[in-house]
Amino acid sequence: MIQDLVLRNRSYRRFVESEKIGEDTLRELVDLARCCASAGNLQSLKYMLSNSTEKNELIFPATAWAGYFKDWDGPCAGERPSAYIVILGDTSISKNFFCDHGIAAQTILLGATEKGLGGCMIGSIDRDLLRRNLLIPDRYEILLVLALGRPIEKVVLEDVGPDNDIKYYRDENDAHHVPKRLLNDIII
Ligand SMILES: Cc1cc2nc3c(=O)[nH]c(=O)nc-3n(C[C@H](O)[C@H](O)[C@H](O)COP(=O)(O)O)c2cc1C
Repeated sequence: MIQDLVLRNRSYRRFVESEKIGEDTLRELVDLARCCASAGNLQSLKYMLSNSTEKNELIFPATAWAGYFKDWDGPCAGERPSAYIVILGDTSISKNFFCDHGIAAQTILLGATEKGLGGCMIGSIDRDLLRRNLLIPDRYEILLVLALGRPIEKVVLEDVGPDNDIKYYRDENDAHHVPKRLLNDIII
């Protein structure tokens, strides 16, 4: 059911790093994105896949995690993503990618969720470092990194309180809480 899938599709930031994700799985996920809506049907998104320890180690240092957690530098070794999909915009096809990469990213994560995996969209990227590390040619704009793995953290959605604070937080049991605005507050 779509509601169940959407609710299970949370941003996960800690994983069983030793559990590998096959290239065939990553290709299946990109194949979902391939069938998505695209502005002008230009289909200017391209993808780089990573599921090896060596390549993952080139990507992780270019990613920034959970900006609200000032005392957490992201997942520790052993809890890092076991795969990544880097979403690129091919500027030889279009200079404007509209919201194509958001649609693609969400679709890929829903597909991953259906497979019992999970992940996180990473927009906070050291793009120069990632470009150098993966030898990404200049014609590709780096749009998003999708981190993927078998999640090991509990994520709980809750209603935003009267103080309207939307910052996610971790409780004493290390569960990750994500406040969401109320339906009546977003329909105008
Ligand atoms: C476009 C976009 C960029 C994001 N970039 C990051 C990021 O750089 N690092 C990170 O840890 N989370 C990132 N996130 C995840 C958000 O923090 C997350 O969606 C939000 O906290 C709500 O949690 P939820 O996805 O479980 O609903 C990003 C999400 C989106 C949609």
